[in-house]
Amino acid sequence: MPLIYIETYGCQMNVSDSELMLGVLAREGYVRTDDPGVADVMLVNTCAVRDHAEQRVLGRMGELKRHKRPGDVLGVVGCMAQRLGPTLLERVPQVDLVIGPDGYRSLPELIARARGGERAADVEFKSWEHYEDVPAVRADRSSAFVTVQRGCDYRCTFCIVPMTRGPERSRKLADVVSEVTRLADSGTTEVTLLGQTVNSYHDGDCDFADLLRAVGAVAGIRRVRFTSPYPTDFTPRVLDAMASTPAVCEHVHLPVQSGSSRVLKRMLRRYDRGRFLEVVAALRQAVPGIALTTDIIVGFPGETEDEFQETLSLVAEVQFDDAYTFKYSVREGTPAVRLKDHVAEEVQGERLERLIPLVRGVARRKNIGLVGTMHEVLVEGRAKRGGLLQTRTRTNKVALVEGPEEWIGTYRHVRFTGTTGSTFTGQAATELVVL
Ligand code: 5AD
Repeated sequence: MPLIYIETYGCQMNVSDSELMLGVLAREGYVRTDDPGVADVMLVNTCAVRDHAEQRVLGRMGELKRHKRPGDVLGVVGCMAQRLGPTLLERVPQVDLVIGPDGYRSLPELIARARGGERAADVEFKSWEHYEDVPAVRADRSSAFVTVQRGCDYRCTFCIVPMTRGPERSRKLADVVSEVTRLADSGTTEVTLLGQTVNSYHDGDCDFADLLRAVGAVAGIRRVRFTSPYPTDFTPRVLDAMASTPAVCEHVHLPVQSGSSRVLKRMLRRYDRGRFLEVVAALRQAVPGIALTTDIIVGFPGETEDEFQETLSLVAEVQFDDAYTFKYSVREGTPAVRLKDHVAEEVQGERLERLIPLVRGVARRKNIGLVGTMHEVLVEGRAKRGGLLQTRTRTNKVALVEGPEEWIGTYRHVRFTGTTGSTFTGQAATELVVL
């Protein structure tokens, strides 16, 4: 049996795409290996959102090529593959194939051609492609990613994704529901619906509210999550569906990018600071106790000290449960390249150094307030260190607990006993939560 090694960078959709690629190759008899040393085919599924992510991949290619024996195939797939296309074949001589997010069906063909000595790229957009007939090969049984929308039609000026993932398209609601039903039948209890602006999902007259209700109604599904939503696509219908569908979890990752209305305008985000705060208030009203996390970019072109201060004050005002923070990274081909007054790297670094402690301080205070409280958790697996089990609440908080291996995949009640500021230690009740 041929062995496939796949390494995944970037977002959850890449994790989901890697599962699809394993599905495409499973049909050809491939079996997954975690050891690049024994693999016949090595793939690196890449991210193009920031230059740093691309540099890491280039470094990694240098290491992986050492495992390449005669006849082995090394491929770059995903967003960086789409962005650089055939030039990647010129830049990295050890790479045999380059495939973008819409081209994974051509993996078997391009692998065969590579074996015949031909290096090739498939970076064509296919606006109909949903890989509907490809059964994803998933590692985790309890929790599954389900892509419901591919591509993006929004035009945020900093973002490369419309250029790497092509035009937006949603899957048919019936197709999503039948996939989730199949998953539930095989023991999955938690699904995370994926899309670049997932709450703008639409299939004919059906919108994201209909999708949430339909997925939440599938027998056996206890938790529904989704990522990433766009702030202004939380329509009253979507808020209502969240509030009235018990399976929908009390956590939303809500990327704000900046707290300054002027910066948001230059980013071509479809809201200003005031509107974002209204969305936060509407979410908190619809779903009491909801946890909110966000993404923030510092040093976007033209960002002044005063504008950056507005990001600091927004973080303090909203009290996010957590935030991913990034220095703006110039992406060739995006509109922001042409904006004036690019912010110096040292200034970006210095702003990040002020933002991060604020974000952590807010999160820490919130989390300290939760010590002593009870939560229902899904036991996800062994924690990386210390022989404990890693569990997750509906609000997406991670708690490490003592317990036997057999608990993995089950739901338990846990009392938080302490916090590092970001994660928790907890004491689990021995009784199982009956599903
Ligand atoms: N520079 C820095 N961060 C970026 N992101 C997207 N594009 C860029 C860029 N050019 C961030 C945004 C987005 C997250 C996935 O990555 O915050 O929400």
